[in-house]
Amino acid sequence: MCGIVGYVGSRNSVPILIEGLQRLEYRGYDSAGLALIQDGSLMVIKKAGKVVDLVDLIGDANLCSHLGIGHTRWATHGEPNDLNAHPHWDCNKEIAIIHNGIIENYATLKTKLEHDGHRILTATDTEILVHLIEEMYKRADDLFTAVRLALLEVEGAYGILVISKREPDKIVAARKGSPLVIGLGENENLVASDAAALVDHTRQVVYLEDGEVACLTASSFVTKTIHDQEIIKQVEEISFDLEQIEKGGYEHFMLKEIHEQPESIRNSLRGRLLVHDGTAKLGGLEPVLDTLYKAQRIIITACGTSWHAALVGKYMLEQLTGIPVEVDYASEFRYRNPVINPGDVVFVISQSGETADTLAALREAKSKGATAIGIVNVVGSTIARETDAGVYIHAGPEIGVASTKAFTSQITVLSLISLLLGRNRGLPQDQGCKLANDLQSLPEKVAKIFGEASHIQDIAEEFKHAQNFIYLGRGSNFPTALEGALKLKEISYIHAEGYPAAEMKHGPIALIDENMPVVFIVPKDAIYEKVLSNMQEVRARKGRIIAVANEDDREIDSLADHVIRVPRTYSYFGPVVNSIPLQLLAYYIAIARGCNVDQPRNLAKSVTVE
Ligand code: M6R
Repeated sequence: MCGIVGYVGSRNSVPILIEGLQRLEYRGYDSAGLALIQDGSLMVIKKAGKVVDLVDLIGDANLCSHLGIGHTRWATHGEPNDLNAHPHWDCNKEIAIIHNGIIENYATLKTKLEHDGHRILTATDTEILVHLIEEMYKRADDLFTAVRLALLEVEGAYGILVISKREPDKIVAARKGSPLVIGLGENENLVASDAAALVDHTRQVVYLEDGEVACLTASSFVTKTIHDQEIIKQVEEISFDLEQIEKGGYEHFMLKEIHEQPESIRNSLRGRLLVHDGTAKLGGLEPVLDTLYKAQRIIITACGTSWHAALVGKYMLEQLTGIPVEVDYASEFRYRNPVINPGDVVFVISQSGETADTLAALREAKSKGATAIGIVNVVGSTIARETDAGVYIHAGPEIGVASTKAFTSQITVLSLISLLLGRNRGLPQDQGCKLANDLQSLPEKVAKIFGEASHIQDIAEEFKHAQNFIYLGRGSNFPTALEGALKLKEISYIHAEGYPAAEMKHGPIALIDENMPVVFIVPKDAIYEKVLSNMQEVRARKGRIIAVANEDDREIDSLADHVIRVPRTYSYFGPVVNSIPLQLLAYYIAIARGCNVDQPRNLAKSVTVE
């Protein structure tokens, strides 16, 4: 959740750290800070607010340091104020730490440390850790060892960077549950919670694993386990460009990412869809294909938007493969002692590949003997590395906190998997070809919807003061409705609920009156007529209807107050197309309400805490 960046090398670290924090600000943005070693002294500068507030605080101060660490925070323990902002330091102000994660046994450690005379000043769990390191430093020869020893006493999750003025040329980094990646440069080394902060400086990276500690100088790095075993790490190459993580002329990352969808969907399909054979080829699944073909049951686990994609996947997989599919919130799955039978395969969906609940669900599934398959965007992320096999969605970096292009690419990849498994389990080739053709046409159909943007903007203007919204759809457009409602909630702070359209009469219909906007996703599919009846029920109660309907549907005009037209798509893949106008509607309403769409309040891009 928090952003972390560190630099040691021949250049001035300050602009590098600030720029890195700006790239990482989507991970957390309630305070920011730096710790620098300058002329042998350790200084900490921190401020509640955004990175820009930290920049203002620094002002014209002539900071020049060849070693520093920077942090942008998403508060867990202690309110977001100047004091609780990271970095934190020890009693003697010799050691500074930045941290992403939660130290679960911090209360026990705090009591012990206070008893030993440490003065704890903030409400954070992180400050406890720096005092623990201070304690260990008394008996260890160096900072690297002190950090390692301290971590042996810690329960919880962490990605940390630690520096000390006694060893002014070193950064010690450690990870358990919160990602850290080291960037290797010439006469300099960097480390960050996300490769986005490194890509400007180097493409050579080393991913730290859970339980590993690294010590970086300008010219070297060493990695050990916290139990003192040396490890040789593999150097990997970052595959994305700087351009991909910049706004490229759009006002917001979210809008850019919405518009990138024709390309991101194309990238998800590239080299994988065999249109003429009516099937798909997914190299990442090859090690587990036999198991997958014989699967008795598929369980999909994920959080948030990825969970909505999983629900869409359930409709497609069950219809095309006949394999029963269960979808579970990762946060529930991990604690409910799930029953895993031989022959069960668990799919784990995550854009970031770092979501703590999803990662824990993956580990739970694996510990019970399931074969685990990842559907992940961020290459080299923890979930991608810990699954037995997987398919990258290749949506490219998603910076906007509200997930958009990852959602449509997750569904695209689930469609490819459904097609591959379906063909293996008896789906005839001609039907496979029809589906493959439909999949191939998705990017073009999505691009067409952008022609509706100004119409959607007008609708947004009309409804910007609404206090509630209901989203209704049936079949695989029920999860589309859930996703539409989530997008609106996240970025406009309007209360919104998604329901299966027919479920409305069992309760939510009580909410319908002339002030209630109801968004219907109503493509011309097998249950079109049924959804029209649900629309009649809303209309009869004076609800205001916004319909997402097919281009050639004229019947809808007499029922809806507003119609947003989308191209016809084979019903399983419809959510890819139908979710685009819902993303745009949420975006334009949020803009009309003056909300910060890329950094909505209380949220963070990657939720690496429970
Ligand atoms: O990175 P993940 O896909 O694992 O993230 C899961 C959710 O935290 C995420 O989808 C969240 O719901 C987004 N803010 C949705 O826009």
